[in-house]
Amino acid sequence: MREALEKIRSEALAAIAAAQESAALESLRVRYSGKKGELTGILKMMGKLSAEERPKMGQLANDVRAALEAAFTARAAELADRALAAQLKSEAVDVTVPAAPISVGHQHPLTIVINEVRTIFEAMGFETVEGPEVEYDYYNFEALNTPPNHPARDTQDTFYFSDNMLLRTQTSSVQVRTMEHRKPPIRVIAPGRVYRSDAVDATHSPLFTQIEGLAVDKGITFTDLKGTLDLFFKQLYGPETRTRFRPHHFAYTEPSAEMDMSCFKCGGKGCPMCKGEGWIEILGCGMVHPKVLENCGIDPNVYSGFAFGMGLERIALMRYDIDDMRLLFENDLRFLRQFR
Ligand code: DAH
Repeated sequence: MREALEKIRSEALAAIAAAQESAALESLRVRYSGKKGELTGILKMMGKLSAEERPKMGQLANDVRAALEAAFTARAAELADRALAAQLKSEAVDVTVPAAPISVGHQHPLTIVINEVRTIFEAMGFETVEGPEVEYDYYNFEALNTPPNHPARDTQDTFYFSDNMLLRTQTSSVQVRTMEHRKPPIRVIAPGRVYRSDAVDATHSPLFTQIEGLAVDKGITFTDLKGTLDLFFKQLYGPETRTRFRPHHFAYTEPSAEMDMSCFKCGGKGCPMCKGEGWIEILGCGMVHPKVLENCGIDPNVYSGFAFGMGLERIALMRYDIDDMRLLFENDLRFLRQFR
């Protein structure tokens, strides 16, 4: 029996030391120390021993059992440590690997220009307001002194939803909306999209962007208009920029003018940019017509005002030397990414 016990001890200890996985270790435990295990099998034969032998063998059996238990526990801890280390290694995160770049969006060239224009006017005390793109005929034409059958309507054909509702053709509609619910002093700019029945080409689009300006107060004169616009274009294109005003006609201003700025490329000498003129036509403006003020409940005998409206696409095209307006609307990323 002693030999059998010693054999179990040496075999089991060797097997335990060689076990590579906890499952294998567990089956060794069942095989050697389990209820039906080899050690238990031998202990069952103790009864057949002499009274003299029994305690010695009992002692030895307990030693063997304790040795196996200790070996099982130690090996189990070793295997658990090893498994944990392997798991940590396989799941390790290398915090030094550079992160994948996050692609941040950027502004459309038109938005960049709108924001520049806004910044300049806001510094002069103008507030940005907005009006709807789907507009009543009243705000787009009628209140602007442009009744049905007025010839100016022919140049601004648009999409009509009904007889009195349309896609606005000009941001001038926002003048009326503003004056209806604000009393002077008023100083606002109104950027936004406008629509006209135009065929698409390099310089035309049925959808484009305007910015409207309006100032109404006591004692506003044409010099305020000239000074404001002259300063604006000097800020946008540089201090050497000059402006000139040519008489024109708009139904909602009197007097009315078109404004040119000196060519920012040649400074006025004449070049392909300004078609040899030295000047670039840039906006329409004038003193708000007394009838328009009246339509909005503002007394033209007390108040006067100036207004102007310009297209923003052209400003963006010139600013970035873009030769085709369609590029602004096609959203080709190869184009847009140049403005990052
Ligand atoms: N609404 C005009 C257009 O779309 C531009 C314009 C001219 C706006 C004169 C004004 C103005 O405010 O006073 O062509």
